[in-house]
Amino acid sequence: MAETLLVTGGAGFIGCNFIRMLLRESDYRVINLDALTYAGNLESLRDVEDNGRYQFVRGDICNAELLDYILGTQELSGIINFAAETHVDRSILDAGPFVHSNISGTVSLLEAVRRHGVRRYLQISTDEVYGSLGAEGRFSESSPLKPNSPYAASKAAADVMIFAYAQTHDLDVVITRCSNNFGPYQFPEKLIPLMILNALEDQPLPVYGDGTNVRDWIHVDDHCRAIRQVFERGRSAEVYNIGASCEMSNIDTVKAILALLGKPESLIRFVTDRPGHDQRYAVDAGKIKRELGWEPQSSFGKALADIVGWYRQNPSWAASVRSGAYRNYYATQYQKRLN
Ligand SMILES: NC(=O)c1ccc[n+]([C@@H]2O[C@H](COP(=O)([O-])OP(=O)(O)OC[C@H]3O[C@@H](n4cnc5c(N)ncnc54)[C@H](O)[C@@H]3O)[C@@H](O)[C@H]2O)c1
Repeated sequence: MAETLLVTGGAGFIGCNFIRMLLRESDYRVINLDALTYAGNLESLRDVEDNGRYQFVRGDICNAELLDYILGTQELSGIINFAAETHVDRSILDAGPFVHSNISGTVSLLEAVRRHGVRRYLQISTDEVYGSLGAEGRFSESSPLKPNSPYAASKAAADVMIFAYAQTHDLDVVITRCSNNFGPYQFPEKLIPLMILNALEDQPLPVYGDGTNVRDWIHVDDHCRAIRQVFERGRSAEVYNIGASCEMSNIDTVKAILALLGKPESLIRFVTDRPGHDQRYAVDAGKIKRELGWEPQSSFGKALADIVGWYRQNPSWAASVRSGAYRNYYATQYQKRLN
């Protein structure tokens, strides 16, 4: 019989791409548990909602009764936890939801795993737990945890809790820490979709500081394939970094988007920097390559062109996520900076 996975946060950006990949390339049954916060959108899963191996449950990962019901009625092979508050700028405005979903939510899942016994728990963490780099070097799995934003700190706290539970309660856990993702269905508060959608409407493109901050980009499909390999073959109680060695300054990324859209660089506006803005991320993915044979397949230039095309061709998806709440957030975050 097909194995069943509980995927949490599957209505978000990476989760929906992961579920689509699993349904396409494996015979897993998937239960998607998602609270549908502002970042969760069932429009992103319209094409799979009738798939007989897919089921959606709306709920909060902090809801122990709901977890007891799901874990008590389903024979799960594993839990893959994507559910989180994910935007650094929002964690600066209010860290409360980050403590709730990222820390308490993770503990709630671990407690449910303890009560019911699930074969493996995989946590989707982030390279941001390592903090910021200078001009040289890359994060390895043994780099110290030095998170700078409330978002990164909440993810680091969850990672530490996971290892404590594994050690204390003998759970099979594994953690992935990936660099910055881009791809279809990404919420437009994040750099690449924000810039594409603003440029398409000839709106100003707000770039923090002098735009020299460096991000290490990976296509979401490469990340999703890595997650599946770590879930199936990764060693227990280990961390696996995931990255595609594609470092770009933010300003170069924005200029590349403008060039693909044939829009002028005069749309760029340098605005007051994000407080505590990490200067550079770069991930050493040697361990997952050596142990599991994973390799990224996308090239940044071609994938970025595809993504620009995707956002251009899916205006109704973008409209569905840019609600009044999103517009309020955008005004809070950028209006004063742009004026
Ligand atoms: N996007 C990136 O570049 C990146 C890079 C590395 C790691 N990550 C990690 O990957 C995971 C997914 O990121 P994303 O970009 O897809 O995020 P996202 O913000 O697009 O989606 C998060 C999803 O989690 C759901 N959610 C939030 N709180 C919940 C709760 N308490 N209970 C149930 N569901 C809840 C939301 O409704 C949403 O569907 C996160 O854990 C994030 O830290 C993201």
